[in-house]
Amino acid sequence: MSPHVCPWWGGYFIDNRLRRILHNPEKILAPYVQPGKTVMDFGCGMGFFSIAMARLVGPQGWVVSVDLQQKMLDVLVKRAAKAGVADRIGTHCCKADSIGYDKPVDFALAIYSVHEVPDPGRAIAEIQGLLKPQGRFLIVEPIGHVDATEFDNLLSLSQEAGFTIDDRPRIRLSRGVLLSK
Ligand SMILES: C[S@@+](CC[C@H](N)C(=O)[O-])C[C@H]1O[C@@H](n2cnc3c(N)ncnc32)[C@H](O)[C@@H]1O
Repeated sequence: MSPHVCPWWGGYFIDNRLRRILHNPEKILAPYVQPGKTVMDFGCGMGFFSIAMARLVGPQGWVVSVDLQQKMLDVLVKRAAKAGVADRIGTHCCKADSIGYDKPVDFALAIYSVHEVPDPGRAIAEIQGLLKPQGRFLIVEPIGHVDATEFDNLLSLSQEAGFTIDDRPRIRLSRGVLLSK
């Protein structure tokens, strides 16, 4: 595994109460995730955002939580059960260079994960291909790991993949972009 990938136990440090104050997941995602939708959390870790997505899509919706590390997904499944939303979350363990998922989604999130991917252009293009027409993709990266130039590069890769930039949402300690297909 690449040394840039957050180790599975690191998931416990980024999924905590302080983060909930900084990044209220329901508040960040409510504008993009509606009841009944099918959504993807790419690089989901232990499910800090997946569980919020599951609450927002409601019982008629579906969340696919994708990660490279099965151990992250195992913790996510336990947390989803505790939160009472396990019935609407599926997990998918992907490869570093390929998501390998083929069911269409209305919305995809990649928060604090794209900078860990060896070929971000490929991952962005793969997500573009998975989105339904009118689908949207929110990329959020940490300012401490991804500088403005690196983030601009992600914007260029997104446009090359066929995305349009819709918005630049303000999220604490982060750089974010909302893309549409
Ligand atoms: C810093 S964590 C962020 C987790 C979660 N999105 C959050 O914000 O709490 C980055 C996650 O991306 C995953 N990841 C790294 N490279 C990946 C890849 N190529 N494909 C899918 N997931 C990847 C890691 O395993 C890790 O769970």
